[in-house]
This record gives sequence, C-alpha cells and structure tokens, in this order.
Amino acid sequence: MTISPEVMPLDLDTLKEQGGTLAVFAKAKGGTDRALRKVNTLARGQVNRVLDSEAFEKAPAGSVHTINVPFGLAVEAVLIVKLGETPTETDLRKIGAKLVTSAKGGSLNILMPKIKSVSEVVKGAMLRTYAFNQHKSKSDDTLPQIFVHSDDTDGLATDMDAAKAEVAGVHFTRDLVNEPSNILTTTEFANRLTALTEHGLTVKVLEEPELASLGMGALLGVGQGSESPSKVVVMEHMGGGDEAPLALVGKGVVFDTGGISLKPAGGMEDMTMDMGGAGVVSGVMKTLAMRKAKANVVGLVGLVENMPDGKAQRPGDVVTSMKGDTIEVINTDAEGRLVLADVLWYAQETYNPSGIVDLATLTGAIIVGLGHENAGVFSNHDDFVANFLTAASEADEGAWRMPLGDAYDELIKSQFADMKNVGGRTAGSITAAQFLLRFIKDDMPWIHLDIAGTASVKTSTSYAPKGATGWGVRALNHMVAKYYEG
Ligand code: BES
Ligand code: MN
Ligand code: ZN
Repeated sequence: MTISPEVMPLDLDTLKEQGGTLAVFAKAKGGTDRALRKVNTLARGQVNRVLDSEAFEKAPAGSVHTINVPFGLAVEAVLIVKLGETPTETDLRKIGAKLVTSAKGGSLNILMPKIKSVSEVVKGAMLRTYAFNQHKSKSDDTLPQIFVHSDDTDGLATDMDAAKAEVAGVHFTRDLVNEPSNILTTTEFANRLTALTEHGLTVKVLEEPELASLGMGALLGVGQGSESPSKVVVMEHMGGGDEAPLALVGKGVVFDTGGISLKPAGGMEDMTMDMGGAGVVSGVMKTLAMRKAKANVVGLVGLVENMPDGKAQRPGDVVTSMKGDTIEVINTDAEGRLVLADVLWYAQETYNPSGIVDLATLTGAIIVGLGHENAGVFSNHDDFVANFLTAASEADEGAWRMPLGDAYDELIKSQFADMKNVGGRTAGSITAAQFLLRFIKDDMPWIHLDIAGTASVKTSTSYAPKGATGWGVRALNHMVAKYYEG
C-alpha cells in the first residue's frame, strides 16, 4: 500500500488554517526560509524560541523538534527539523521518515526548503508510511497523509515519479514478506507476480511438469512434501538495447518447516518470511517496470513450500540438479540452496546474463555473524560487487562482504554424491555460498546476498516499522540506475 503524496505550491497565506502537522526546516548556522519565518510569526515567536534554545543548539543535525498545539496556528504540532550544513541524500531520507513517526494526526504538511535532493525527504516519508494491517478487523495504526508544499513543484514532480516507483516496489516486497503462508501460497505468489504484467513486465510461470522436464530435481525435491505446487516465475523487463540482461534470482520458500529435519516449534512462525529473496526480486522488477528503466533485467524466483509428509524428501536422499550434478541431502532444512541451484542454472542457460545477483534468507548463521544491520555479500567478481556495495551504501542498506575459498568448498564434499547440501557446524553462511557457486558457470559475474537477518526485523528501522523491511529493493534499483542505464 503506497500513500502517494500530494505536491502543491507553497502558499503562506493558508498556513494559519492548516490542520494536522506542519514540518519546517532550520538550516545550519541559523539560516531560515520564508516558510519557517511565516510559521514563527503566526506562532508568535515560538519557533524562534526553539531555535534559540540550548536543547536545539546541542541537538544533532537531522533531529526533529516538536511544538505541540502551538498558539496562533490550527495545527496539532509544528515539527522543526535541524538541517546540517550539507545534508546527504541519506540524511534527508532519514529526516523524511522521522517526520512520519513524529507527526500528530491527519495530514503531514512538509514545507520544503530549497535545497539539493529535496525529493529524498519525501521518499523517506513515503517509505515509512507503511503498515501491514490487512488482517486486523480494527487497525490501531494511524498513518498521516503526506502533503508536500514547495516553490518548485515542477522540478519535484520528475524526481517524485522515480521515488514513487521505488517506494511502490519496497511496499510490494514488504506486503509479500509479511503475508502469512496460508494466504501467500506458491499459487497466490505466482498470481501476484502475473498481475505485474499491468506495469509492462513479461511474466511466465513454469509449472511442475515443465520443471521436471527441465531436470530441476533439486528444486522439486524441496517441494515434494507440500500440497502447494512448486513453481518458477520469470519476470522480464527489457527496457534497454540488445545487451545481455542482468539476472536477479530469489529464494521463494513460502514456508520453511525444515521438512523431515523439522525445525523446533519456538519461532517457527517467522519462516513465513522465507520467501524474502523472491520478494525483493519481485519488488525490484515492479520498480523497474513502473519507472520504465532503460535496462534489461530479468527476475527469476523459485517458489516452493518445505513441508514434512509421506512424500517429503528424506535426509540421505540423493537428487540430481538441472546442471546434472548430484546432491546428497544431509539436512532437509538446508533447502534454499537446493532451490537456488536449479533457478541459477536455468537463468544462465536461458539468458546468458551479464551478471547474476541472487537473494535468499539462506542461513541463520548470517544473523549470528552480522545481526540485522547488514546482509552478507558473497561474490566471485570484485568490480561487480564493488558496484553493488556502492549502490547499497548510497541507498543506506547495510551490506558486508564475506569471504569465499576452496578450503570452504572442501566442507561440502560428499561420500555418495557430487556434493552434500550442508557443511559442518562452522562457517555455515560461507559453505552455503560455496554450494551456490558450484552452480555458477566459469567467468559469470555473480553476487549472493544472504538476507536472513535483514529481510524482516523485530524492531522498527529508520525506514520501516517492525516486520518486513524490503531491504535490497532500493540498493538494486539504484545499482541498475547507476550502472546499467544510459
Ligand atoms: N530459512 C532458513 C534460514 C533462516 C534462519 C532464515 C533464520 C531466516 C531466519 C534456512 O532454510 C535454514 O533453515 N538454514 C539452516 C541451514 C542448516 C540446516 C545448515 C540454518 O541456518 O540453520
Ligand atoms: Mn531451512
Ligand atoms: Zn529456508
């Protein structure tokens, strides 16, 4: 659900009667704009009292100072933002998000200053204007409606279209990730992706018989204990020339019980988010389509459910991947890599992409290592990964590179098959990445993002309430814009 902000010309004469919340900006070194000065006059000097206070002086750049129910104005609150000397895009985005959480009731009216990258404030506000309350009969979340008052409505409009497309992608991802697994079955997931044709994507759904004839034994083994059919969904956005596409591949385990290697009951409900990688791929594809990105990008997601039943795969089973390599399934709970192995191979055989980024809620071990602040980044290509890390940093999405190496690959050698699906107790995230690397062709630039810690969180972040974050959508959209277009 995206709340599109309304952009309107700044009209100082109607501020007095404005309801809801007003947000104004105080520039570094006491610089004020005419909006702030007008609000101060109407409020009989209360704004200046804040600006002159010790608390304001000591407060960090980016802080938001609230005057509740001020004299002389109809609003519930005035929010005064302390702007730093040269705020970065991330500073501005964070301020926008903070305005949403500080707003009191009804409308949030942002009286935009004349500064560079001002649309980032609105983007931050839009990102934070999110709640997942579809399944509550009475919702207690109150989200403000955003109004942007600006002297440069035309200039803002262009940036705003791109920002809206990005936020729509992030919110689409969050909705998918937050959705419970009885609703977001593999079939429902595929249906929601098929609906993206509305934005101009070409969407194909590969069903089980086709996956079987392609030889996707690794992926199909994971889903064989579930009533929900396994699927691979392919989304094409060909907005560029005739160059090879970038491929985005996502793990879409709609629920991960662990299978016969059953997970403990406590916290198992969190595994509704085990399709987070597929969710991010879907969100990026939606954004690229909506903003008509001038690049070729194809998104591929493997949709399965990992359930234990009479038909479920057993520990010790040996499956044959589409590549032809055989895998000894030591632990049915290490299922994500089995799904990705076949989708990665299919992506390369079908599209011969210029590079591949895969995303997966792959290992609990990455949470132990990096917590919820950074996704684990693995790559076989220094330039490709440098581009991604730059894009992630500019988007303010935490990403930290992890090592790969032959010694780790040794750990997944199998007695009975070409490899086994788990290493030992150590370096769990790295052995998982090494497993994936076995399904990447020589010289194919590849990045693996382990998002088990960042896809969904238990406390709110700068840009999202608790629950699904949409981590990765902005970094990847930014990477495409920066390195693949124009
Ligand atoms: N989906 C899980 C990983 C996960 C854990 C995601 C916590 C989000 C939060 C994955 O399929 C899994 O079960 N991994 C196992 C691998 C192990 C059996 C080698 C794990 O991390 O314990
Ligand atoms: Mn698992
Ligand atoms: Zn899983």
